[in-house]
Amino acid sequence: MSRLVVISNRVADPRKPAAGGLAVAIGESLQQSGGLWFGWSGTVVEGGPSGEGELHRQQAGKVTLATIDLSREDHDSYYLGYSNDVLWPVFHNRLDLAHFDAGFIGGYRRVNQLFARKLLPLLQRDDILWVHDYHLIPLAAELRAMGCRQRIGFFLHIPLPPQIIMAAIPQHEWLMRSLFAYDLIGLQSHQDQEHFERYVLNEARGNALGGDTYQAYGQTVRSSAFPIGIDVDEFMVLTHAKEAQDMYMTMKGEYSKRRLMLGIDRLDYSKGIPHRVRAFRELLAHYPENRRSATLIQIASPTRETVDAYGDIRRELESLCGAINGDYGELDWMPVRYIHRMVARKRVPGLCRAAAVGLVTPLRDGMNLVAKEFVAAQDPADPGVLVLSRFAGAAEQMKEALLVNPYDTHGTAEVMQQALHMPLEERRHRHQKLLQGIRERDVHWWRSTFLKALSEAIPVG
Ligand code: G6P
Repeated sequence: MSRLVVISNRVADPRKPAAGGLAVAIGESLQQSGGLWFGWSGTVVEGGPSGEGELHRQQAGKVTLATIDLSREDHDSYYLGYSNDVLWPVFHNRLDLAHFDAGFIGGYRRVNQLFARKLLPLLQRDDILWVHDYHLIPLAAELRAMGCRQRIGFFLHIPLPPQIIMAAIPQHEWLMRSLFAYDLIGLQSHQDQEHFERYVLNEARGNALGGDTYQAYGQTVRSSAFPIGIDVDEFMVLTHAKEAQDMYMTMKGEYSKRRLMLGIDRLDYSKGIPHRVRAFRELLAHYPENRRSATLIQIASPTRETVDAYGDIRRELESLCGAINGDYGELDWMPVRYIHRMVARKRVPGLCRAAAVGLVTPLRDGMNLVAKEFVAAQDPADPGVLVLSRFAGAAEQMKEALLVNPYDTHGTAEVMQQALHMPLEERRHRHQKLLQGIRERDVHWWRSTFLKALSEAIPVG
């Protein structure tokens, strides 16, 4: 059997908690088969040329972790710059936040070349390579240029924007052309797939050959939607473990007379957290019966803090939460509890289970696995209600959630009210359907469907 080699910017020990859907999902899918996980060590080396030091290798159960350090310059231009100050905002429809600094692209190319150079000697002939996310779009092209002939698949965890938005990136053509060096491109949703197809047909003047196969730039590639899922069984085990149970009991005790509304996100502008908090304020203003009885707990774990837009969103959120607590708070009740720290993964299921309403309302999101985790953590006999943004990839699958437009503050507040007062029977019915859906398309389905399609794709050369 072929060995699986996963390559992503962020690498995490699969046995330890990680922030961000990518590391969790890859960890869970690699743990099953074992293999090699290659990427950035998370260490930035001051001065000196990048990655020339030794490769770090570590065994984590059945998975070998192989990571390299980045120089300050490479980290700043490749990771903070091109990946998170150009691709991330544009792919999330935030052209206003993108900085098309001409210096970034050099670092992005250099680090992709460095990854290719360092990875190549580690490869075995029959390996299957699976590259993840926007940091590494040109990696297959770099590997191919160095003679790599193994099958290479790519999965984009974030949304692929519409053609007209994509075209704002000065190097958009080069990026799309680079994708054609893969054997298979996996996207999160049918909408992303539509965006890909329109770009290929209209911008690249290519062809759709049918059966998910596209032709452009003198090459062919297969591309399809493979919506990512969670490990439902593993999450349920976590839900019944001691840490989650303790958390559940603490929250139930603390909020015995109150309804808990919960948001758990990285503090990212794509997550729509200020919009959500404003909708909660509207809920308190229009439906005063919720004052003293509903509490919003918003956990926002720190992320990419040196990128300007992330500092701005933090300040906005802090002042918003402060203002609401000042306006509506009582001596014995604070409307919003805002926590700017990462919460231990083992406690997350307990927190979710104690919540009457889960708020997953990003302005744009590739999938959003918190929505799926919220459902998995619920007590089927008395489940909480999921309020989900129509702009999350998850909305294509989770039709029984209460779908909202997060830009519509009033509309979202109305749905919050509906969620808080939904009859038990309806809650059970919706939850049962949602649970069935996330079970059918869990992380194992995602992994095996993608890898099967990759093994069937016609290999290069
Ligand atoms: C998103 C991205 C991942 C990334 C994660 C955490 O889920 O799709 O590629 O790893 O955010 O962000 P960070 O910048 O800390 O890796």
